[in-house]
Amino acid sequence: MEMSLAPIVAHEQIAEATWRLRLDCPALAAAARPGQFAMVRIPDRHDPLLARPLAVYDTFGPLDAPTCWLPATGTAHAVPLRYADFVYAVAGKFTTAAATLQVGEKLMVWGPLGNGFQLPQAEHLLLVAGGIGQTALLMLGRAWLAEHPTGRVSFCWGARHGSLFGHPEDFHHAGMAIELATLDGSAGVRGTVIDLLDHLRGQGQVTDGHRTAIACCGPEPMMAAVSAWAAQRSISCQVSLETPMACGIGICFSCVAPVRDQQGGWDYRRTCMEGPVFNGASIAWDAID
Ligand SMILES: Cc1cc2nc3c(=O)[nH]c(=O)nc-3n(C[C@H](O)[C@H](O)[C@H](O)COP(=O)(O)OP(=O)(O)OC[C@H]3O[C@@H](n4cnc5c(N)ncnc54)[C@H](O)[C@@H]3O)c2cc1C
Ligand code: FES
Repeated sequence: MEMSLAPIVAHEQIAEATWRLRLDCPALAAAARPGQFAMVRIPDRHDPLLARPLAVYDTFGPLDAPTCWLPATGTAHAVPLRYADFVYAVAGKFTTAAATLQVGEKLMVWGPLGNGFQLPQAEHLLLVAGGIGQTALLMLGRAWLAEHPTGRVSFCWGARHGSLFGHPEDFHHAGMAIELATLDGSAGVRGTVIDLLDHLRGQGQVTDGHRTAIACCGPEPMMAAVSAWAAQRSISCQVSLETPMACGIGICFSCVAPVRDQQGGWDYRRTCMEGPVFNGASIAWDAID
């Protein structure tokens, strides 16, 4: 884990209220694994005072054009990685302020942090994202396909409406099938990601049991529903929690989530240290406010 003042080399709006940011942060880019995050803070500002956790969306080498959003060339991975991309939805104090930053300005960043995803043993990996949850999943799908060249990845993304989807083609370029759901029916299946999963299962594209695995990130009610859907069908399901964090390094306990123990009770675990990725079946969803 390293703290640095990282220059912004690219920054652009990619969908409704959604921005993509590229930082020049070689140590973080080289070390980041799928599902890890970084704490990001705007220096010289007291409001917001605290950093925010952002998932590392993608990493790039020095040979990739630093301001081009196209996927990495592949050759770049033979040399050390240099840039890390983050994608954020404008929601509150930090993200509203971040959206005003210009290329050349700097952000304070420390990471990579957290446990990241395990690469599940399966034939078909379902990446299930709600809202801005896709940010934790791109690197996972790519790493899983590299380990399972005969495997299949379906990226299932749900949002309120179609103009909220930013750069879904990244998943296509990485070899994954894209499946969309929107509440208003403006893109993909009309409904939630659960409706989408039911639809894919009804078409025979998703099978129950150990041949399928799910990795999920999004709002907590959505992750609770996906975990329950998976458990009912004996499908393993990892979830990446988006619990608010203050320090990101295990000190402040602001990020705790209720995780079940062997005895059937639950206790709090720090999302920044023991997570953000947990077995979905281990989260006591009903104990979350
Ligand atoms: C591991 C991890 C990874 C994450 N990755 C990403 C990512 O890749 N991209 C991303 O966009 N986010 C990500 N998040 C969430 C991110 O850290 C921030 O929480 C998010 O960006 C909002 O920050 P903000 O300061 O803009 O909003 P805040 O100001 O903190 O507000 C957060 C929410 O609370 C509401 N709110 C704020 N103040 C009040 C109030 N007084 N009363 C009622 N409601 C209020 C806001 O409307 C907003 O919905 C991640 C979180 C975690 C834990
Ligand atoms: S954010 Fe401080 S302990 Fe997790």
